[in-house]
Amino acid sequence: MKKILLFAAFSLVAFLPGHAQKKEILLSTPETSLLLFAPQDGALTLRYFGSRITEAQIPEILSSGLDLDKQAYPVFGTARNEAALVVRHAGGDMSLDVAVEKVEERDEPAAKVVSVTLKDKLYPFRAKVNYRAYKELDVIETWVEISHEEKGNVKLQKAASGYLSFRQGEVWVSHLYGSWGSECTLARERLMPGAKVLSNRDGARNAFTHHPEVMFSLDGAPQENTGRTIGAILCWSGNYELNITTEGPRYHEFYAGIDPIASEYALAPKEVFTTPVLAYTFSEEGLGGVSRNIHRWARKTHIAHGERTRDILLNSWEGVYFKVSQEAMDGMIEDIASLGGELFVMDDGWFGDKYPRDNGKTSLGDWTVAKNKLPNGIGGLIASAEKNGIKFGLWIEPEMTNTESELYEKHPDWIVCPPGRTPICGRGGTQLILDMSNPKVQDFVFGVVDNLMKDNPKIAYMKWDANFSIVNYGSSYLTGDKQSHPYIDYHRGLEKTLQRIRAKYPDLTLQLCASGGGRVNYGLMPYYDEFWTSDDTDAFQRVHIQWGTSYFFPSVAMGSHVSASPNHQTKRVVPIKYRFDVAMSGRLGMEMQPKDMTDAEKEFSKSAIATYKAIRPVVQQGDLYRLISPYDGKPVSSLMYCSADKKQAVMFVYRIKYLLFENMPTFRPAGLDPAKTYRVTELNRVEKTALSFEGKEFPGRFLMEQGFEMSVPGEYGSRVLKFEAVD
Ligand code: DGJ
Repeated sequence: MKKILLFAAFSLVAFLPGHAQKKEILLSTPETSLLLFAPQDGALTLRYFGSRITEAQIPEILSSGLDLDKQAYPVFGTARNEAALVVRHAGGDMSLDVAVEKVEERDEPAAKVVSVTLKDKLYPFRAKVNYRAYKELDVIETWVEISHEEKGNVKLQKAASGYLSFRQGEVWVSHLYGSWGSECTLARERLMPGAKVLSNRDGARNAFTHHPEVMFSLDGAPQENTGRTIGAILCWSGNYELNITTEGPRYHEFYAGIDPIASEYALAPKEVFTTPVLAYTFSEEGLGGVSRNIHRWARKTHIAHGERTRDILLNSWEGVYFKVSQEAMDGMIEDIASLGGELFVMDDGWFGDKYPRDNGKTSLGDWTVAKNKLPNGIGGLIASAEKNGIKFGLWIEPEMTNTESELYEKHPDWIVCPPGRTPICGRGGTQLILDMSNPKVQDFVFGVVDNLMKDNPKIAYMKWDANFSIVNYGSSYLTGDKQSHPYIDYHRGLEKTLQRIRAKYPDLTLQLCASGGGRVNYGLMPYYDEFWTSDDTDAFQRVHIQWGTSYFFPSVAMGSHVSASPNHQTKRVVPIKYRFDVAMSGRLGMEMQPKDMTDAEKEFSKSAIATYKAIRPVVQQGDLYRLISPYDGKPVSSLMYCSADKKQAVMFVYRIKYLLFENMPTFRPAGLDPAKTYRVTELNRVEKTALSFEGKEFPGRFLMEQGFEMSVPGEYGSRVLKFEAVD
């Protein structure tokens, strides 16, 4: 058999109602398969995960002689110490010994779901392990529902979403790390003996330090377009732990789930604890293949309106910061409309009655218009946007308050903080986070959006920010036995609130922001159309940040704005073309004061926005091919998008090093149809002389195999090329 087994086998019983007892469960997506073995009263084991196999190949796998000693969802206290599930039973016993009780199968419109219920042999305690295999997407999701009927609460000490083991060899893990302003930096490392742990303990924003997504390259150092690669994504917005343990000579073991630290969960009899989803994908086309699988899945299932075209917007933040006024907003609205933009977003600084928001120290929670700044209210701004033929949106930070706010004066017990303690504050020395586990707070946060929308139904977009962590661990709302729940119940409360918002306002565009990219995760993205990638808007650094982000998140959701030069964060001076060329590889927007642009810059912006509109379907919905990495020490970085029918593609090239006489790599597009002929045109050109191949036609095969040479002049040189199939 050509395919190589990725997993150890385990053992288990399966009983499909209405079918004869069947131990093997084969779940397949178009290109991948997962094989479970589920014998009644035995152990649930995972026999195979990799490229697609057929029923006929099952006997080959089962008789392969490979080890059969690994459970699909290992539990603590009988056979093993490292486990996905660790509990303390109502009576205090910490052991689990589970076996397959039943197997259920159901069809969803887009997927098949198999659920295997594991029951403890001694206690009325169950873990239902679920798998969802998409019919048209190469992703398999797993999650677990834990319940019991013991006499008293069971304490969940660790309840991972899933477990996976794969054979040792030269296996590498690729993952993201960073901080404010340098989100999504790429790390690649070979797995060595010991444990590699990626965890987050921020409480509210889980994507600054690390990310709950990883890729495993099974065939040596990671390659973009070759090599068997597994992708794993934990769809959770709270603290997480991804643990890869390498012990003994045979397997790497991977656990992913909610972080167990300070999160023991008291589960009442008959209550069901559902873990977050862990999504897996597999590709033989390297990191790029895994990214493309994830992007397709995300656009279809895990990003709000993932297949809808995004508007080109101007955000007011870096243009005016807190100096919001009717006049300033009117000016920006007119300017973005005249450049061809489609949406204006008023950022921070617009609200607060008793305490007008003039800086980061006051007013969060007081979501009424600051009358001194905006005498005509939100309605006045919407009218101004409508007059200019564009849409209007605004910024909120609804989970937060300041000590100087009417909200905090009224409800000091609504914040995350143990009763009786003086809270430590965040931004401005005054910011506090509201306790989303409290239903009254959930109602309030829902009301922030609901009231704004009821008063101004034409608001088209909201940027939802979150600029603080859970540092005052505790809750005035949660009872004593639940004081270890805040890290989990905060996010459950947040999700419930977002579900209510989405049920009432399905069409509202929501941007996910947390001091930049602090919350870019698939726990929240199903409720948001896009995310703010980073507060660092320096185009040069954005080449790196967006490159890393693209491993797991598609361009349609990647807020990418042209900002002023010198850049406000790095002070770097970068030409307008480079700034546009970088922003145009994501969801294009602007974030600056257009009035400060020269006429030439305005002309360029107008033309680049028109160009983006023409290539937007390919950039936002196309397949991504990363061509030259900014991490590889080459003078340029390059990536491209191809439409699904391969009739159109757009390639972006950015200078990242500028030294005389260095070797420029050959540019080799990927993802084209080798049998098609493509006309190549340069977009956003500023050079007087056209490229030698401008407007010429080349076979796709030639372009991809031979590639072409091209200069990229200047320290911040960049090029955008369009490939259009000719009949
Ligand atoms: C942090 C965000 O990341 C910024 O884009 C901006 O919205 C500020 N907050 C406003 O306070």
